[in-house]
Amino acid sequence: MPRWLVALFLLPAAAQTPSYSGAVSAILARRCATCHRPGEIGPMPLTSYAEVRPWAKAIREVVLERKMPPWPADPSVGARFLNDRSLTPSEIQTLTAWVDSGAPQGQPSAAPAAPPSEPASPLPARKPDLVIRIPSYPVPASGTLEYTFLVTPTNLPADTWISAAVWKIEHRAVVHHINAFIRPPGSSYVAAAPPGQLYVASAAERSARRPDETEVDRRELLAGYEPGYRPQPWGPGRAKLLRRGSAVVFEMHYTPNGTPVADHSELDIYFASAPPRERVLTITPADANLAIPPGDPSYPSQASATFTAPVTLVSLQPHMHLRGKSYRIDAVFPNGRRLALLSVPHYDFHWQTTFFLAHPLSLPTGAVIECSAVYDNSPNNPNNPDPSKTVTWGDQSWDEMNIGFLEVAIPAAANPNVAVLSGTTRPAPTSASR
Ligand code: HEC
Repeated sequence: MPRWLVALFLLPAAAQTPSYSGAVSAILARRCATCHRPGEIGPMPLTSYAEVRPWAKAIREVVLERKMPPWPADPSVGARFLNDRSLTPSEIQTLTAWVDSGAPQGQPSAAPAAPPSEPASPLPARKPDLVIRIPSYPVPASGTLEYTFLVTPTNLPADTWISAAVWKIEHRAVVHHINAFIRPPGSSYVAAAPPGQLYVASAAERSARRPDETEVDRRELLAGYEPGYRPQPWGPGRAKLLRRGSAVVFEMHYTPNGTPVADHSELDIYFASAPPRERVLTITPADANLAIPPGDPSYPSQASATFTAPVTLVSLQPHMHLRGKSYRIDAVFPNGRRLALLSVPHYDFHWQTTFFLAHPLSLPTGAVIECSAVYDNSPNNPNNPDPSKTVTWGDQSWDEMNIGFLEVAIPAAANPNVAVLSGTTRPAPTSASR
């Protein structure tokens, strides 16, 4: 081939080589800098060429393996999610082509401004109506911390609709997770905890409930914080109900990281400005009968919710601990049709994720949501704290759980007892529990 012809072929390719100042910094700002900037959980900032250049090879590797951004759902199965963090194939292509061509900077003057300091938020711009702040949680440099509770009575004069509840976390590097629950009047949930004080409840105390008490009577998830958290609205015209006399209970789990700190994270609560059309409820099917034999590499468990009224499914969150291997959530309609909603093929305890459906799903009376967990209690599971143990239900990460947190919307005035829950281990094999 004549040399000029070769040059002609190379020219467009060279012109397309991505540069940092061009396409690359825009992708990093959008997809990575939410965590990789000062004060966030990412171990290094990725906000300038000087910061990014030494990591170029590592970036190529983690994006090709889909380790970064952390996003555990299998993109080829199930629903689309509002908060999907994963890279598109063309973004992966741009980043790898850039590294393969020597990670050039391009025109420094063309570099886009630093990423927005906060992701654009669809939440109220006004001041919150109620702020609940952790008085001061002392996190030591090392050790294992017990789940700790903080019960805050709300003392509101009437039933109050909450349109949004947003976490402001002070020390993201040590907060493993915090769940805020609404505890209605009369509930038995950590009932012995003195209000306003940090309290460590025994496992028995945490799980004890009156025999006639439904989950909705006992507690309801208001808002959860997990690494990578971004506030998500429940949708226009939707709110959670804080009944008069309710308390808000924080369930806190901190993980020391070498530096002692005192944490004062807070939950900002916004009241609805008008009565909502729909009430958002959290339904939590769980399988408390787990008994995972020592060494078992693939132990299945199933928990389900059968709806006794029509609901709209808004979000999903699988919850297992260190032996969690994979998780699926399926909807089964009364006519037998099965719809896969979520598949997490490689569950990672360190990335608890709430999946917000891009298109909330209408479920008729009789529809079932199946939450199918699989555990690996073998020595091949690198996270396994002890493969020689039979593992049963419990709060600590060396115990196990199978909980599906499901947020559903119902008409605002409807009866909130909309589901019958069940949990079974070793279910008969179905197409969902391969
Ligand atoms: C939701 C938060 C989050 C997002 C978004 C995120 N990261 Fe990370 N990243 C982390 C955390 C936390 C770690 C360290 C722990 C780990 O590896 O899981 C990490 C580790 C890394 C590492 C390995 C560092 C080492 O020490 O070897 C690389 C490289 C990396 N991220 C690149 C990226 C890139 C590139 C993106 C965007 C395409 C990205 N990350 C998006 C949180 C995030």
